[in-house]
Amino acid sequence: MHLKIRPLHEKFGVIVKNINLDKVTKKNLYPEIRELFEEHSVLLFKNQNFSEQAHINLAKLFGPLENREAMAKNSPIPFQLPKVSNQNGEGRVFEETHMRMLDLKGNMLWHTDSTFLPIPALANIIAAKIIPSTGGETELASTRLPIKNLPNGILEKIKDRKFFHSFVHSRKQIDPSLAKLNKISRWKPQKWSSIIENPVNGKKSIYIASHAYKMEGFSKSKSQKIINEIIDFATQKENVYTHTWQKGDVLIWDERSILHRGRPWPYQEPRTLASICVSLSPEDGLSNVPKSEFN
Ligand SMILES: [Fe+2]
Repeated sequence: MHLKIRPLHEKFGVIVKNINLDKVTKKNLYPEIRELFEEHSVLLFKNQNFSEQAHINLAKLFGPLENREAMAKNSPIPFQLPKVSNQNGEGRVFEETHMRMLDLKGNMLWHTDSTFLPIPALANIIAAKIIPSTGGETELASTRLPIKNLPNGILEKIKDRKFFHSFVHSRKQIDPSLAKLNKISRWKPQKWSSIIENPVNGKKSIYIASHAYKMEGFSKSKSQKIINEIIDFATQKENVYTHTWQKGDVLIWDERSILHRGRPWPYQEPRTLASICVSLSPEDGLSNVPKSEFN
């Protein structure tokens, strides 16, 4: 079966039509969805009535669920579906100065999820739950595109080198006290190849994020300049897809080839996205990724 698609952005991504994600299984529709994912990097599904269990089931087809608590404590702690939300447990919104809000603001830097973890992410599968009246968009940009025309000889500089990634580094840019929280500071910096080759189609992308702070063989300041230049180049306006969330939307993006960021919204309004990252497996194209132990 061939899924019906149309372009999401002129340069990457597709909208997948007439599909009920509740019905996807390993044999039914997943192979086609995975093929589209490898090729186009971003998939949008509209009008989904997506239960939490269906969300988890779909994510598991892509690979091991990212379970940060289990990873941090090196023990099989049960998975809990992560929510990107400004609501506390009682349904009230956090004050703008609350650490949780500062953490959400960290997501507004261009980034790739989980590059600071010992096992980074393959994909994010994200579903809109509560949408504000305005704002709160998610913006996406491909890191396959800039590899073809990066200026100033940058490609030569980064080729065959690794970037160091740290959660503390990106959170420090928002507020130094945020970076000191255990859930941030517990992660040691990680080192990953600057370029990933997709093992299915050979397409290359730059593996970068606001968490990246140093490149092998370069000073921190020189590295940061290069990192900023790459991110600025990749996220030029014409290369960015802005997703305005609607109820029923499910987005899947490839963490190996997509940078993303959240956008602000009126913080007196709630906004909740359910977001499951799937961990990279050794066969997904990034060298030195260990195998997830707990899924
Ligand atoms: Fe993110």
